[in-house]
Amino acid sequence: MSKVYICTAIPYVNGNPHIGHAMDYLLADTYARYHRLKGDEVRFQVGTDEHGNKVFSTAQKNHIPVEEYVQENSDKFREFIKRLNISYTDFVRTTDPEHVRSVQEVWKKLEPHIYSAEYDGWYCEGCERFVTQKEYEENEGCCPDHQKPYQKLSEHNYYLRISDFKERIRSAIESGEMRITPEFRKQEMLRLLEDAPDISISRPRKQLTWGVPVPGDDDQVMYVWVDALSNYISVLGYPDSDDMKEFWPAAAQFVGKDILRFHAITWPAILLGIGLDLPKNLVVHGHVLSNGQKMSKSLGNVIDPMEVLNRKGLPAFRYFFLRHIDSFADSDFTNEKFENAYNNELANDLGNLVQRLATLCKKNDVAGVQSELKLTSEFCVLMDKFEFSKALDLVWGKIQQLNKQIDDQKPWELAKNGESERVQEVLQDLERGLVDTAQLLTVFLPETAQQIIDIFTATAVIPPAQPLFPKN
Ligand code: MSP
Repeated sequence: MSKVYICTAIPYVNGNPHIGHAMDYLLADTYARYHRLKGDEVRFQVGTDEHGNKVFSTAQKNHIPVEEYVQENSDKFREFIKRLNISYTDFVRTTDPEHVRSVQEVWKKLEPHIYSAEYDGWYCEGCERFVTQKEYEENEGCCPDHQKPYQKLSEHNYYLRISDFKERIRSAIESGEMRITPEFRKQEMLRLLEDAPDISISRPRKQLTWGVPVPGDDDQVMYVWVDALSNYISVLGYPDSDDMKEFWPAAAQFVGKDILRFHAITWPAILLGIGLDLPKNLVVHGHVLSNGQKMSKSLGNVIDPMEVLNRKGLPAFRYFFLRHIDSFADSDFTNEKFENAYNNELANDLGNLVQRLATLCKKNDVAGVQSELKLTSEFCVLMDKFEFSKALDLVWGKIQQLNKQIDDQKPWELAKNGESERVQEVLQDLERGLVDTAQLLTVFLPETAQQIIDIFTATAVIPPAQPLFPKN
């Protein structure tokens, strides 16, 4: 048994949870459930990123005191995470006093690598990011992600000397000490690291009021990313806690492609600066698109996750995201694909199998079975490589195989011919196959898998009153 720490990016609380936010949670949750199944002790962090101008100005626009605004929106994320049945253990808010104290400790420890200088350049408030002149020119002065012109900044800042750590970060990425998955993202980060400049890590208080004060300088407030990234250790009680010793470094951090640079360069620099190990894995997912396009209010193609959840239920939602949304590339969510997957795979393949087999068992008085957990190496290899949709393909192959087995063995004919011993054998064999498969399915669809296990391990098998996945 080992101790495994799993982290997710913490969303800004300047809006409602978005269908894309589900990605970090579902991937991390699947990994957490896999490790628990193996018997590991799992800590699993989620949280909300509540400081910065973006959040502050949205609160002002809504005429709500910022403290109230962040509380309200943080609660919406908490509900969303609960609705997704995410098995997290820790929820961190960057406005928590314990977090603020930890971040200030991080800053103090980093001081040998910090210097002060003038910043004269560009900034994107949407990304909360300082932008280089080269990037400014490449993007013709406008952020491609937020479709907003970059802001010109001339101000006094503290800088973190990234150059102190560049070589160490490069070797950690190259050697796999900090493995970046998928491989093409690793290459992208190695290229970005080549000319990564020192980064500004504070803003003058007059430019940024809503943030963590820099220790020893009342005129400066910490840049939101230093504050936000530190959540991964503040939640474990950095600097002095047994949990830090037991759970750090993280086994895996799940992030979207847009924020990888902060996790592959800034975060390692902070960690090395304060003398901590680097996370073992950075797992980078793509973006969820809507009908092939980035979701935006102006295009009117934003998908409300609550609507999808309320319409089709959680197992269908989890299933679609974990099997049909590519884990690493950008991937499209369309209602048509979702409905097809629901009808063909969940209702026909799985729902029918459960209903048919349970009905046959009941009719022929065949009891449920006991079954031990069998994690196959084929499954574990895929899970350890974060190839979750492929691991779910493997589970689905087993479900289809069981359907074929029923069709081939025709237990109803055996019963008609009075071969009752053979009926017992055939049905119990199928039950064992299905319970074994359901055990693997628990990492993806915990509720459905448990339902299946309960049905086929009971002394008297009773078919579900309603099909598991009723068709419309
Ligand atoms: N607050 C920062 C993260 C700080 S982590 C120390 C942030 N917040 S965010 O709300 O913009 O994004 C949170 C997570 O959601 C990120 O991993 C981001 O990539 C992910 N996604 C946001 N939109 C997404 C999609 N459309 N699709 C998939 N993931 C998306 O960045």
